[in-house]
Amino acid sequence: MNTKQQIAQMLEESGEGYVSGNSIADRLDLTRAAVWKCIRQLECEGYQIDSSRHGYRLGPQSDALSEYYIDKYLDTLSDRITLEVYQDIDSTNNYLKETAARGQHDNTHNDSKKNVTGSWHVVVASAQSAGRGRRGRTFISSAGTGVYMSVLLRPQISPDKITRITTAAAVAACRAIESCTEEKAQIKWVNDVYVRGKKTCGILTEASMDLESGVPDWVVMGIGFNVYEPENGFPEEIKEIAGAISTEKIRDLRSRIAASFLKEFYSIVSNLEDAAYADEYKSRSFLIGQDINVIGSNSTRPAKAVDIDEECRLIVEYEDGTKEALFSGEVSVRVKKS
Ligand code: BTN
Repeated sequence: MNTKQQIAQMLEESGEGYVSGNSIADRLDLTRAAVWKCIRQLECEGYQIDSSRHGYRLGPQSDALSEYYIDKYLDTLSDRITLEVYQDIDSTNNYLKETAARGQHDNTHNDSKKNVTGSWHVVVASAQSAGRGRRGRTFISSAGTGVYMSVLLRPQISPDKITRITTAAAVAACRAIESCTEEKAQIKWVNDVYVRGKKTCGILTEASMDLESGVPDWVVMGIGFNVYEPENGFPEEIKEIAGAISTEKIRDLRSRIAASFLKEFYSIVSNLEDAAYADEYKSRSFLIGQDINVIGSNSTRPAKAVDIDEECRLIVEYEDGTKEALFSGEVSVRVKKS
């Protein structure tokens, strides 16, 4: 633990009480000026710190995304996770893809059960400078407002089952949002999570296939939560669609969402083969019964979303009466003309 983290821990442990600058300086063998500098740095990371003549204490809106907090909320799962937390990174998916390609943190590879659980390598960031979304889009990842996280898995599953990792993540994200806030979370097929009618969470799953064995060499599941609205609002190009999970700052919310998501995701992927989560995925979907456009690479085709099957495929009925089960892709809800 570095000095900054030690100070954060002292503030955390003191609860509502103040910790004096002198006692921090004495305990960590620092000057008062060095303590003050660390306090300012912690504030930049999302800690809300009240300072008075009595010293420093964490405020009720303190919401730092740190290893210390995520670890604390992970409970026993913490033993199964190699966790790295960054204040800033280019992209957590890029980072883990490079790690996977180098074969590092290969904890599950020699696991005799050869499944998706075992130990996981997880990277969490408070900001991304090159966050990536689906279809080559950018994923806006503003500092201090979200949780940007990737999980490296080495599942022994056939390629057609990889989408289960994405749909499992969508269900886990909904559960995490609902357990950490008062909000209801829904899924827009295939992997967008909506709160109060706006997209608050996106998922990008990437994989590399081993052509000989026919199973993925690695899978990186990346998920981004918009926990709060950025100070100047969402950028023009996404503001109609994007929303925030919470309208007010809540103590440790980002770390709690990160940990809760990991616990739910771990629990679902431990039983990925039986796809028991598919019913929940369907019940959380808000597309069924809606008029939609199925967006192809060069065209869009009007259809009705009629069902979601046991593999979380979207069953659509086109205007000529033909039906199709969509495995992946993109759809938009058609706005009814009045
Ligand atoms: C989408 O909605 O288009 C998917 C967005 C996925 C964003 C997450 S944030 C963490 C991880 N790192 C990335 O660069 N992208 C994913």
